Amino acid sequence: MNTNLAMPQLLSLLLVAAALLASPSAALVQDFCVADLKSADTPAGYPCKSVTTVTVEDFAFAGLGVPGNTTNIIKAAVTPAFVGQFPGFNGLGLSMARLDLALGGVIPLHTHPAASEVLFVAQGTICAGFISSGANKVYLKSLNRGEIMVFPQGLLHFQFNSGKGPALGFVAFSSHNPGLQITDFALFANDLPSEVVEKVTFLDDAQVKKLKGVLGGSG
Ligand SMILES: *[C@@H]1O[C@H](CO)[C@@H](O)[C@H](O)[C@H]1NC(C)=O
Repeated sequence: MNTNLAMPQLLSLLLVAAALLASPSAALVQDFCVADLKSADTPAGYPCKSVTTVTVEDFAFAGLGVPGNTTNIIKAAVTPAFVGQFPGFNGLGLSMARLDLALGGVIPLHTHPAASEVLFVAQGTICAGFISSGANKVYLKSLNRGEIMVFPQGLLHFQFNSGKGPALGFVAFSSHNPGLQITDFALFANDLPSEVVEKVTFLDDAQVKKLKGVLGGSG
């Protein structure tokens, strides 16, 4: 070991050491990570788009200003602003959606495995509820314009128009990609054999076949 280091050499060694210690934390401080949607999503989000190509347009999204098409069996439309539509949400633990509910419209029973949700009623009256996982207790309320309701992560919930005209709501989620599983689609919109659906739901054959027909399931 060389014990004869001169003062200038010692100083430069210290500076190099300080720079090495400082650089990892500097690299971790990142203001944002706009999603590069050409790459695959991961549990930690999408890889970041190069900062040099990011503009203010990556942080703005006009899609929720457009009414969804409610001419469908649920008489409702969900317009998402998840990371896939709005890459600026990547990694921020946030996303949104717009709910248009025509007269009689329903957002059927569903869950978001990765996020809690808050609903803001912008127009009309929306009846909303969720069901707890342990006691299966129902929390149900009719919400008027300006009111909000929160739906805890992973719990089954629903919304429907309980007013006399169209309703409009906006929802926010605690994930850039909350996930969505609609219970009826999981049961009746795939090829799970009818006899298995009947066995695991206790529904009768006619009801299962009818719902598979309406929702496009087979088997
Ligand atoms: C809404 O959806 C229905 C059914 O798919 C379609 O016939 C209609 O043209 C759509 N309306 C608009 C404005 O896109």
